[in-house]
Order: sequence, then C-alpha cells, then structure tokens
Amino acid sequence: MNTLSWVLGACALLASTGVASAHQTHINYTVVPGIFQQDDPTTDASTFNFTASNFGLINRTYPSDSAYSGYTRKTQWQRLSRYISSLNHHAHSNERYSLLFLGRHGEGIHNAAETYYGTPAWNCYWSERDGNNSVVWADAHLTQKGISQALAVNGFWKHLIIDELITPPESYYTSPLYRCLSTANLTFSGLDLPRKHPFVPTIKELFREGISAHTCDRRSNKTYIHASFPTYRFEKAFPEYDPYWTPLHAETSTDQDIRSKKVLDDVFSNDDSTYISVTSHSGEIASLLRVLGHRVFALGTGAALPVLVKATTVQGQGPTTSTEAFASVSTCATAPVATASSCNDCSCCT
Ligand SMILES: *[C@@H]1O[C@H](CO)[C@@H](O)[C@H](O)[C@H]1NC(C)=O
Ligand SMILES: *[C@@H]1O[C@H](CO)[C@@H](O)[C@H](O)[C@H]1NC(C)=O
Ligand SMILES: *[C@@H]1O[C@H](CO)[C@@H](O)[C@H](O)[C@H]1NC(C)=O
Ligand SMILES: *[C@@H]1O[C@H](CO)[C@@H](O)[C@H](O)[C@H]1NC(C)=O
Ligand SMILES: *[C@@H]1O[C@H](CO)[C@@H](O)[C@H](O)[C@H]1NC(C)=O
Ligand SMILES: *[C@@H]1O[C@H](CO)[C@@H](O)[C@H](O)[C@H]1NC(C)=O
Repeated sequence: MNTLSWVLGACALLASTGVASAHQTHINYTVVPGIFQQDDPTTDASTFNFTASNFGLINRTYPSDSAYSGYTRKTQWQRLSRYISSLNHHAHSNERYSLLFLGRHGEGIHNAAETYYGTPAWNCYWSERDGNNSVVWADAHLTQKGISQALAVNGFWKHLIIDELITPPESYYTSPLYRCLSTANLTFSGLDLPRKHPFVPTIKELFREGISAHTCDRRSNKTYIHASFPTYRFEKAFPEYDPYWTPLHAETSTDQDIRSKKVLDDVFSNDDSTYISVTSHSGEIASLLRVLGHRVFALGTGAALPVLVKATTVQGQGPTTSTEAFASVSTCATAPVATASSCNDCSCCT
C-alpha cells in the first residue's frame, strides 16, 4: 500500500467518526514474529553474529510461497520480499508492513575512551569534556576499528545483494552525529543498488543518540555536516546549531521514547518505502525497539538488525506525548584517579 492510500485510509477513519483533528489517530507498531532470530526470546544477543547467520533470517516457508512460481529455486530473501508484498497487498487500508534495517555505528573515539578511562570516570568527568590532550570525542569520529567494522558490513551487504538477492533499502536515514554519517557512508558506498533507490540518506535530528551531558552527543553544525557529507539530504527545517544538547543536562528515557515514536511516525507518514535503513546508536535503537514492541536486543558497535514492522493507524489518542524537563547531571570538578575501578558513581571522584 502506498502512503497516499494509506493516509487516505487513515482519513477515512477520521471522516467516519466526524472527528476533525488529525491528533485523534495514531500509529501503532508491532513486530511480525517468526521472521528473524533476533526477535526470538531464545536468541542470545551477546553471542549473536548477524553476518554469520544471514542477518538472522529464519529458514522457513511463507504462505505466499505456493503462488510464487519456481519458488523452490528462490532464495530465502527473495521469498521474504514476495511475502512482504503479499502482506501489503492484502493489508487493510490503515495497515502497512515495512522491513527496517537498524544499524549501529562502528566504534567511535568516545567508545574507545570510555574503555580506556573506565565507565565511572568517563561518565562523571571525561565525557563532559571535548577530549583529552591527544584525541577529540565531541561528536566523535570513528576509530580505525570502527571504520573496519563499517567496511565489513559493506562486504556483507555486497554478499546479500549478489548471492542472497536481498531487496536493498529503498530509503536511508541517519542520525546527525558524525559516527553515524560516516558509518552509513562506508556501509552503503560502492554497492550495486537499484538506480531508482540510490544511497542518498536523509539526516534526521531525532534518530540521534539519547541526549546526555556527554559531548559525544552534541552534534556539529549543519555547515560542517554538509561539507563532510555533501551528498546527504537534511530533513526540513534542520537548524544550523544543535537545538537540544545542553551542558550538564540529560534527556529522560521517557522523553527519548516519545521522540523515537515521533520520528518513526514522521517516516511512516511521509515515506512509502517498504525497505528502510536507519543508521543510529545503541541507546536510540533500544528506544526504537521499545516503540516498535520488539524485545530488548543489544547491538555491539557496527552491528545491525532487521525488524519486520506492521504499522496500523488507529483511532484515539496515542500514548502520552508530554515531555519532561531534561534532568540535571552531577559531575566531578577534577579528574578521578585512574585506579578508582571500584567506584560506580560520582561520590568517589572528588
Ligand atoms: C497496539 O496493538 C497491539 C496489538 O493489537 C495492542 O496490544 C497494543 O495495546 C496497541 N498499542 C497501542 C499503544 O495502541
Ligand atoms: C561473525 O562472522 C563472520 C563470518 O561471517 C566473521 O568473519 C566475524 O569475525 C564474526 N564476528 C565476530 C564478532 O565473531
Ligand atoms: C538456512 O539454510 C541455509 C542454506 O540452505 C543454510 O546454509 C543455513 O545453515 C540454514 N540456517 C539455519 C539457521 O538453519
Ligand atoms: C586520550 O584518550 C585516549 C583513549 O581514547 C588514550 O589512548 C590517550 O592515551 C589519551 N591521551 C592522553 C594525553 O591522556
Ligand atoms: C565515504 O565512503 C567512501 C567509500 O568508502 C570513502 O572513499 C569516503 O572517504 C567516505 N567519506 C567520508 C566523509 O567518510
Ligand atoms: C561549524 O563547525 C566547524 C567545525 O567545528 C567550525 O570550524 C565552524 O566555524 C562552524 N561554523 C559555524 C557557522 O559556526
């Protein structure tokens, strides 16, 4: 179903009840189970290797197989595409199915620094600075390891496209933070993509990481992003300067889920693509998974997971959308001693 008829379906729902405000409908997301191993409670995220397991795609038949001529010679990904088409074909006017590829950026300089200093000292002192005397982690760039991770995922996509005949993304979105802009570039450059759907990502503010007091969560200005990634598009009204990051304040996780739903609703209301790639962060992907109703599935740096989503436009108010004030964050005035490995809050960092 395309966006137009989908939105018309939603409007028809409104008209039938005589309700005038678009605020009276909302989109409910659910995960279609039984497609990917990551959604199965018995799959252990900490040991799961998505490139070694065909992205977690479960070997099975689909109800649409029998009508797919020569289906025994088709790959699992081809048959999945056929199945998703049939789901959309038979969907009600207020329903649609999309396959999301949620990718976490490769290792950033801030990830390496957190490992180097240890999490307590990182959180209460170093993360609030732009860097140390040798590296910068404000809007962190990728480390060499992070670049290799993204290139490995690029090799995996090559394999999926050539050997598995996967349907590649029809549209691409990325967080505005440099580590994601860069990961998306390395992951999707040089692939044999359909001419109709080239890799031209849209930068969306709200796919960014949970906004903490850490400078790695403060984005660069628009001029710099554009100069670094000149082929990328900005969503409408993307401001020059980061409108959200505030020193020593952090977004609450309730707020994060509210804006994760907002950005998904924005994508699903304005983009009729079935295959959608999002390059984002561990905390933000965890929030997106909560909104989608997917179980917790933690991703290592450079990892990605596919989620087959059913989006239904339903009547009535959505979940609460009133946000709270950012919480203030307490930090230490001086660098904690490097050996304070047993401390787990700021109290020992004076
Ligand atoms: C979304 O739909 C599911 C399944 O129909 C239902 O259990 C859930 O309560 C709905 N959530 C919202 C927020 O409407
Ligand atoms: C995952 O599997 C691939 C083979 O597909 C292998 O090259 C890679 O090293 C594995 N990754 C990890 C983290 O074990
Ligand atoms: C799925 O099938 C492929 C090829 O038929 C096979 O290589 C792979 O091991 C199977 N995967 C699982 C999880 O059974
Ligand atoms: C800065 O942090 C990095 C960790 O990413 C570390 O390798 C380096 O030694 C630190 N530099 C100084 C001057 O402490
Ligand atoms: C984007 O990716 C291409 C291909 O891997 C690479 O040559 C280029 O340097 C990358 N650009 C940036 C800004 O990361
Ligand atoms: C944008 O950011 C870059 C890199 O941090 C900086 O050099 C430049 O002066 C900034 N431009 C504006 C308009 O603030």
